[in-house]
Amino acid sequence: MSRIFSGIQPSGELHIGNYLGAVRNWVRLQHEFEAIFCIVDYHAITVAYDPEQLRLRRRAMAVSLLAAGIDPNAATLFVQSQVPEHTELTWFLNTITPLGELERQTQFKEKAQRQESIAAGLLNYPVLQAADILLYRADSVPVGEDQVQHLELSRVVARRWNSQFGRPTGSTNEDGTEEREQFFPEPKALLTPTRRIMGLDGQAKMSKSMGNTIGLLESPESIWAKLRPAVTDPKRIRKTDPGTPEVCNIYHLHKAFSPPDTVEHVAVQCRTAGWGCIDCKKVLAESMERELVPIRRRAAELADSPRTVDDVLAAGATHCRALARETMDAVRDRMGF
Ligand code: AMP
Ligand code: TRP
Repeated sequence: MSRIFSGIQPSGELHIGNYLGAVRNWVRLQHEFEAIFCIVDYHAITVAYDPEQLRLRRRAMAVSLLAAGIDPNAATLFVQSQVPEHTELTWFLNTITPLGELERQTQFKEKAQRQESIAAGLLNYPVLQAADILLYRADSVPVGEDQVQHLELSRVVARRWNSQFGRPTGSTNEDGTEEREQFFPEPKALLTPTRRIMGLDGQAKMSKSMGNTIGLLESPESIWAKLRPAVTDPKRIRKTDPGTPEVCNIYHLHKAFSPPDTVEHVAVQCRTAGWGCIDCKKVLAESMERELVPIRRRAAELADSPRTVDDVLAAGATHCRALARETMDAVRDRMGF
């Protein structure tokens, strides 16, 4: 069975951008692939952070993921820092990663702009990400669209490593060069139709750092307080103005949460000004509730049984350490250690 790997930072609670762009897909794919999901706490320290918060957020993220439907009987869930091989492989990969590729990463440039002083760790963030994936020799990586460039870099690194350190197979390539084993597969991105969820301001992608999120575990009252003023079709000023669903963020959320016949009905009501935006948002809130109620309930249960969560993470780390050790034995050997 082919293997998928993905990661998420323990940066506060899961929001519906993470959920629709990645985690909901993980839940589906865990039954089709050998799946490994990682809470990437080493990535979370590449910008300023509070150590006490980090401790809490690691567990909160595990609770959110399990509540969202990650099933420890189907998939492996673990915390990155519990498998030390991630940092060891990062160092090896650092030695073959082109600096220019790192400097060109959009996410680095965006985050760097917001820092007073830029740490080398922020620049090297994508190398750690490549190490996460390559350590398990994963074939595919289910992520949101914002991670596509990082995955491209992971492929560059895998290709370089294979051509420099892969063992000669004994055959020759078409161009006459020595063929080498493809030790690391070049990982592909697995995207969803909801690969990029915009924030409620309609301005930027939904992200914790922009303060424009809806948390997966927020109360219905709090979700409504955010949905009510959320940006819709900017051309629809009065209730009687017909709207264009395709340009409306709320319509896109309907496509993610509402059944197909509701989505169609919403589009018609918008185009004909049958409904105002508030009517449309009320129906969205109901659809979201249907999906979020069981998630909230599971999260509350898990929060009351920390042992369950710790056991899942401990079993995940044990499993991943064994896989990681195997890869590192081969990597050290091929690289002359
Ligand atoms: P992060 O919280 O940055 O670790 O992201 C975890 C996962 O959620 C990654 O696969 C991201 O691509 C995805 N993701 C984060 N924000 C969004 C968004 N606004 N829309 C779609 N996917 C997202
Ligand atoms: N950089 C990713 C994000 O912010 C998180 C991540 C770290 C990741 N390592 C990974 C995603 C490996 C996929 C595979 O969303």
